[in-house]
Amino acid sequence: MFLRIFKTTWAWLDARLGISALVVPMITHRVPPDARWWYVFGSATLAAFLLQVVTGVMLSFSYVPSSGDAYAALQYLSHDAPFGRLLRGLHYFGASAMVLMVGIHALQVFLFGAYKFPRELNWITGVLLLGLTLGMGFTGQILRWDQTAVWSVVVGAEQAGRAPLAGEWIARLILGGGNIGGMTLSRFFVLHVFVLPALIMGLVGAHLRLVLRNGISEPPKPGAPVDPTTYRQDYAALLEKTGRPFWPDAAWRDVVFAAGMIVVVVLCAFLLGPPELGKPPDPSLIHADPRPDWYLLWYFAVLALLPPATENVFIVFAPLAAGVALLVIPLLFPRGERHFSRRPWAVAAVLTLLVMFGALWRAGLDSDWSPDFTAQPIPQKVVASTDPLVQHGAQLFFSKACIHCHAIEGNGGRRGPNLTDVSDRLTQEQITIRILNGATNMPAFGDILKPDEMKALSVFLESRREPGRKSN
Ligand code: HEC
Repeated sequence: MFLRIFKTTWAWLDARLGISALVVPMITHRVPPDARWWYVFGSATLAAFLLQVVTGVMLSFSYVPSSGDAYAALQYLSHDAPFGRLLRGLHYFGASAMVLMVGIHALQVFLFGAYKFPRELNWITGVLLLGLTLGMGFTGQILRWDQTAVWSVVVGAEQAGRAPLAGEWIARLILGGGNIGGMTLSRFFVLHVFVLPALIMGLVGAHLRLVLRNGISEPPKPGAPVDPTTYRQDYAALLEKTGRPFWPDAAWRDVVFAAGMIVVVVLCAFLLGPPELGKPPDPSLIHADPRPDWYLLWYFAVLALLPPATENVFIVFAPLAAGVALLVIPLLFPRGERHFSRRPWAVAAVLTLLVMFGALWRAGLDSDWSPDFTAQPIPQKVVASTDPLVQHGAQLFFSKACIHCHAIEGNGGRRGPNLTDVSDRLTQEQITIRILNGATNMPAFGDILKPDEMKALSVFLESRREPGRKSN
């Protein structure tokens, strides 16, 4: 009875909407026979994205995109709202999964040479999707609106502000005005929930349409180069001879893998929970260690480790150049061998990239360049002298926050040079000048220190020398 009603309704709808005419060829189209587990990462990315849409919409029911209320809303969501913690966890680990999957998918496509003719546009839309995915990660982290988030924006805007020509304009665009505030959060909210997702959905549509139109690439064989004049015929012949229907012969792997991925995301969300919120934002405090989530940590390291002089150019042009380089790969190499054993340079490029990301990521985890706000006062036995001026200087070294950036015998941060034996390098006068005027990445203390404090600090630092060496 019910089945009959269902069947009639479906037939009525289908006759008018043409759903099966659209979908049946999509799921039954023939694919190369040996497209195995390597091919699951694209669909897994899509699955992660859908999870993000669902959890994101649910989160936005409780989120308040206002700089005064966002933090409290997230606190409520994380600690009191039913399932709020789980939901945040799902969205966080879902984002991680999506970045991971899209990254592996891009690597696999590159290594398999699947971007070559006729799939150049598949690659190009894919690169745009990769960039948008990272953009979603960045804008999403800002929405937490805690100390770290706010400082990431400030750092980002400051960096962008130093770009040649358009710098100030870009900075104003990021902040939504001259200063960080309510407008800033609104801006990132709109980007994160409307603009970027809309672009992603449009591009995913185009990407999938291209996958259907050009077919899934057959696994590469050494000695079978792509020749645009014959490729389509050969591909059609291959499908004719050995192709199998996408569903269920190939698609079951996509389903199994995506389901496994979602189970892992749910487990992580349930067991580990979302990242704790930092302290509420307070722009007057510099006690923040802005550190993005793991998948952006490498870029944070790039910015922090670059010599200051190269930075301006790097911030704007390097990402641009990297993006353009990725986009033009298929236009430069549309033909030729696909198997990695015949493409040593491609393999070398991937290995270099992986090592580079790994190293930057490690550096990002350590982040020596961030001031160490947990540093304790210098222990008595490290202060070499009982001279009251030296003692006073050692206290000021802690209380005036020098210790956050400078270490003395292992006590203190590593943002600035180690000052354990600073007077071996600098005279007292040079030390004083440096403290008064500051330097790149060191604030000037001229207006902050009273003359006697200045004196005590420089005497203390002057006392820092290799043991045994006489004062000069
Ligand atoms: C925000 C981090 C930071 C703080 C806080 C800071 N410094 Fe520095 N300091 C640096 C950096 C970075 C340099 C290296 C600058 C350069 O590029 O020449 C430096 C350089 C110096 C130098 C020269 C060292 C050398 O070997 O060339 C002295 C001396 C110094 N700082 C003393 C101090 C004192 C004293 C204080 C506290 C009143 C202080 N600094 C606070 C970051 C900091």
